[in-house]
Amino acid sequence: MSATGSTAALTPPAVMARKGDVPLVCLTAYTTPVARLVDPYCDIVLVGDSVGMVLHGLPTTLGVTLDMMILHGQAVRRGIKRALLVVDMPFGSYEESPQQAFHNAARLMAETGCAAVKLEGGEPMAETIGFLTRRGIPVMAHVGLTPQAVNSFGGYKVQGRGKKGGIVERDARAVAEAGAFAVVLEKVPEPLARRITQDIAVPTIGIGASPACDGQILVVDDMLGMFETFRPKFVRRYAELGRDAERAIAAYADDVRERRFPSPEHVFADQPATSKKAGTE
Ligand code: KIV
Repeated sequence: MSATGSTAALTPPAVMARKGDVPLVCLTAYTTPVARLVDPYCDIVLVGDSVGMVLHGLPTTLGVTLDMMILHGQAVRRGIKRALLVVDMPFGSYEESPQQAFHNAARLMAETGCAAVKLEGGEPMAETIGFLTRRGIPVMAHVGLTPQAVNSFGGYKVQGRGKKGGIVERDARAVAEAGAFAVVLEKVPEPLARRITQDIAVPTIGIGASPACDGQILVVDDMLGMFETFRPKFVRRYAELGRDAERAIAAYADDVRERRFPSPEHVFADQPATSKKAGTE
């Protein structure tokens, strides 16, 4: 039994059925230990291409490759029992044609064991989303601020303010009607996210959007205080692990320099202690 009270793995249709119900809890994960931590509490675990910035120190998500997503997808898969595992399609792996998208999404699914992929883009990606979903690849869409388009947007700006709200609304409607089982709404004005949530038939997953969304997602390193490069307004910090880790590392460095570490309990005698079983040292 998990922290959410269920033992069975969630499926894309089960996620779709949660429209208007208890909000879907979603987090990113990139490694097995973090996947094990988040799985009991989450409905969806996303191996986001944010991995490039968060774990690999890249300046944007544009340098993330399919091989990186496969490697991290495999690691996360080993830590997941209950949540729906979704893996991001990286920049350049799906935009060229529906066929290119199918080829790479099929690789992601076959090699990671994920149950769905996520791709960025609204109306222009609707044809591709339809192509994939009709061929057995569940797709989570991502509209509003789509970080892979950071150069076109000129930065990580709020999308859909004022009259531009119509563009995001059209995008969300187009991807939902094309067959996406859920739509991530990133960094859009609250009233717009609320309107879209009422308007489309599939769950919306907000990140810098609205509490009215059908679910929420955060980058796990952001909410744990592990990623300092950006501190977006939409992140609530639930821990300060980065600060705590720095304190621990500084204490270790002091102990080594002052010869306080290792201490007697961390070193080995010439002969094993007779009371200890073999292999316990
Ligand atoms: O890459 C990512 O982590 C994402 C989420 C923030 C939605 O796309």
